Amino acid sequence: MDGYRPVHGVVAVTLRLRSNMRVLVVAMTGSGKTTLARTLSSGFAGPRAAPSQAVLVVDCKREPSLAELVPQEARGAPPPGMGGWWRVCPPDGDAAEPILEAVWRRGHTWLWIDELSMIGDHRRCPRPLELIYRQGRARNIGILALTQDPLRIPVVAKSQADAVLVGPIGAPDYVSECARMLHMPHGELAEALAELPRYGFLWWTWDHARERRRPDVVALGGEGG
Ligand SMILES: Nc1ncnc2c1ncn2[C@@H]1O[C@H](COP(=O)(O)OP(=O)(O)OP(=O)(O)O)[C@@H](O)[C@H]1O
Ligand SMILES: [Mg+2]
Repeated sequence: MDGYRPVHGVVAVTLRLRSNMRVLVVAMTGSGKTTLARTLSSGFAGPRAAPSQAVLVVDCKREPSLAELVPQEARGAPPPGMGGWWRVCPPDGDAAEPILEAVWRRGHTWLWIDELSMIGDHRRCPRPLELIYRQGRARNIGILALTQDPLRIPVVAKSQADAVLVGPIGAPDYVSECARMLHMPHGELAEALAELPRYGFLWWTWDHARERRRPDVVALGGEGG
């Protein structure tokens, strides 16, 4: 999927997302993660997608904007072969486990997890989530995971990320963790974050040799600059 958004004060970028990518978004509350995720997910279900391709929003916080996007709350994952937009609200990892298990079985799902630390943390990751992260690419399962807290999410979400978006971050510890994940000096990341426009994110991808490329700045119109 190609997405193009005009921006103010920064270069316009084209985001190339494949439906089986693992994308991690880290930024503090109110920084625009959910809004960005909505744009990033828009091509993965509906008229332009295959009929069996689904977007499953795992809405752990019951965000009003997600209920607006997908009004009907489902009890579980979409049945095999059934596409479109779905939303589930598991309160924790235990409740998410059977849903993730069903996603693993059906494949062809863009799994949007908002917020990741509520269904898995650095000590415990639901088994099917670990499986999906490690082996779900071949089943065409993509993951877009959002978090405010890079220290509390499952390690596999960082080690398996094909793309990482980092926005404004609260605690210095969180900046350090992101810098570690991206193999870059803390100061360099802190400086780049300080220059971000409002609702802006730094976007990294890796090339085939797993070399990290220079980040693009992503901002969805609105109040840039
Ligand atoms: N690009 C944008 N331009 C203008 N307004 C935006 C933009 N992105 C987000 N907003 C607004 O900022 C507010 C917070 O955005 P959003 O809910 O996406 O943040 P969030 O990072 O998901 O927050 P939380 O961590 O609390 O879930 C919302 O009112 C949203 O409409
Ligand atoms: Mg949000």
